[in-house]
Amino acid sequence: MPNSSWAHAVVERLTIDHVGHRGDGVSLDAREPVYVPYALPGETVEVEHVAGNHPDRRHLLAVEVASPERVTPFCKHFGLCGGCAIQHWRSEAYSAWKRNIVVETLRQAGLECEVAPLIDAHGAGRRRITLHGRLGTHEVLKVGFAAMNSHDVIPIDRCPILDPGLAGAIEAAWALSEPLMKRMAATKPLDIQVTATDTGLDVDVRGSGPLPAPIVAALSEVAEQHRLARLTRHGELVLQRAAPSLRMGGAEVVLPPGSFLQATVAGEETLAALVQERIGRAKEIVDLFCGVGPFALRLAEKARVAAFDSDAGAIAALAKAAHAPGLKPIKAEARDLFRRPLVAQEMRDVDAVVFDPPRQGAQAQALKLAASRVPTIVAVSCNPATFARDARLLVDGGYGIETVVPVDQFRHTPHVELVARFAR
Ligand SMILES: C[S@@+](CC[C@H](N)C(=O)[O-])C[C@H]1O[C@@H](n2cnc3c(N)ncnc32)[C@H](O)[C@@H]1O
Repeated sequence: MPNSSWAHAVVERLTIDHVGHRGDGVSLDAREPVYVPYALPGETVEVEHVAGNHPDRRHLLAVEVASPERVTPFCKHFGLCGGCAIQHWRSEAYSAWKRNIVVETLRQAGLECEVAPLIDAHGAGRRRITLHGRLGTHEVLKVGFAAMNSHDVIPIDRCPILDPGLAGAIEAAWALSEPLMKRMAATKPLDIQVTATDTGLDVDVRGSGPLPAPIVAALSEVAEQHRLARLTRHGELVLQRAAPSLRMGGAEVVLPPGSFLQATVAGEETLAALVQERIGRAKEIVDLFCGVGPFALRLAEKARVAAFDSDAGAIAALAKAAHAPGLKPIKAEARDLFRRPLVAQEMRDVDAVVFDPPRQGAQAQALKLAASRVPTIVAVSCNPATFARDARLLVDGGYGIETVVPVDQFRHTPHVELVARFAR
C-alpha cells in the first residue's frame, strides 16, 4: 500500500538544460528552474516531487533520452550516498563544467580575468573523511556518509575515492561506533573523522558526550586492534600508538586533532606549488589563514614568513615544525583575522601576502589588504563566490588580477579551489 505522500506524487517529464553549480541537472521547461540530481544536459528525464523536498527539486525516476556524455558510475553507493554528486558524466564535460563554475562566478562579479584550464589534483584520492554513525530502525547501526541533502546515513563498506593511506578507515569507524552507539544506546549522532598520516590513521570521534570508563576502555581496545596511530574524542587523547605526522616540504608536522588539512596530498602540493610560483623571489612573506603551514613551511625554504591562523593547535604544530633544519625563520601567531585582520602598517615591509581563508572568505582582511602597499598578494580559495567578493575589494583598491587557476581536489563534487595573483 503506498503511503499518502507517494499516492499523490506527480510524475513529470522534463528536459535538462545544463548542470548547476551544485551538480544537479537544471530544467528550464517551467517558469522557474527545476533541479534534478544525477541528470545531464540534453537529457529527457522522468521525475517526481518527493514530499518534504524543496518545491524546486525533483527525484529522478528514469532517464528516457540519455546524454552521449553519460557514463556508468564506478561506485555501488553512488546515487544514495551524498559524498559524490557526479560520477555519471564524461571527464572532459565534467572538467569543463567545473572550470565554468569559476568563469561564471567571476563574470557575475564583474571581474575581468583569464581562467586557466582546471588542474586535476585528486591524485591518490582523499586522505581525510568524516563518517557518521547512527542507530537506524530496530536499533540497527549504520556507519557511512550522509545521503544527498539529508541527515540520513547511507551505510558503506567501501569508498573507491579514498587515498590508499585510508585503508582500514571504514572498518575502524564501524568498530568504534559499536561500543558507543550500541552499549550506550546513544541517540546522538557520531562524527568520526579519519585522516591518513605518514604514521597511520588518526581518528577523532565527536558527538558521544561524556563516557563511562568501560566505554573508553572499549574504544582503546578498538584503537589497538585496528592499529590506529591516535584516537581522540573531541580532541582529547584516548590512545596514541604513534604521533600522527605528515611531511610538508622539508618539515614534519604532527597534526593537532581536528585542524584543517587539504583534502588530497596532490591538492596540497598543487596549491603550494602555485603559491610558490606566484610569490616569486619575495623575502618577507605573510601567510594568512596558514593552518598547520603547508605553504609557510615550503615558502620558508627561501624567505622569512609570518604566519597567522585562529586555530591555536594548528599554530602550535606549525611553530614546532618550523624548527626543521634549513628553514628561514617562521613566526607563527594565533589570531582571529575576521575580528583583527592585519592592517597596512603591519604589512609595511612585506613583499608578498598569501591568504587562504575558510569558505566565508576574508572580507575584513581583504579590505585591509586593499589599503596596503604590499606588491604581491596570492589568494587561495575554496569558494569562488567569496573569492570574487574579496577579489573585487582588491581590484577596487588598485590591484590587477592575473590568470585564475582552478584546482580540482574534490573530484566528483561541485567543490573547486582556485589560486590567483594580484599585483600593484
Ligand atoms: C582553507 S583553510 C587553509 C589552511 C592552510 N592554508 C592550508 O592550506 O592547510 C582555512 C584556515 O582558516 C582558519 N580560520 C578560520 N577562521 C579564521 C579566523 N577568523 N581567523 C583566522 N583564521 C581562521 C582555519 O583554522 C583554517 O586553518
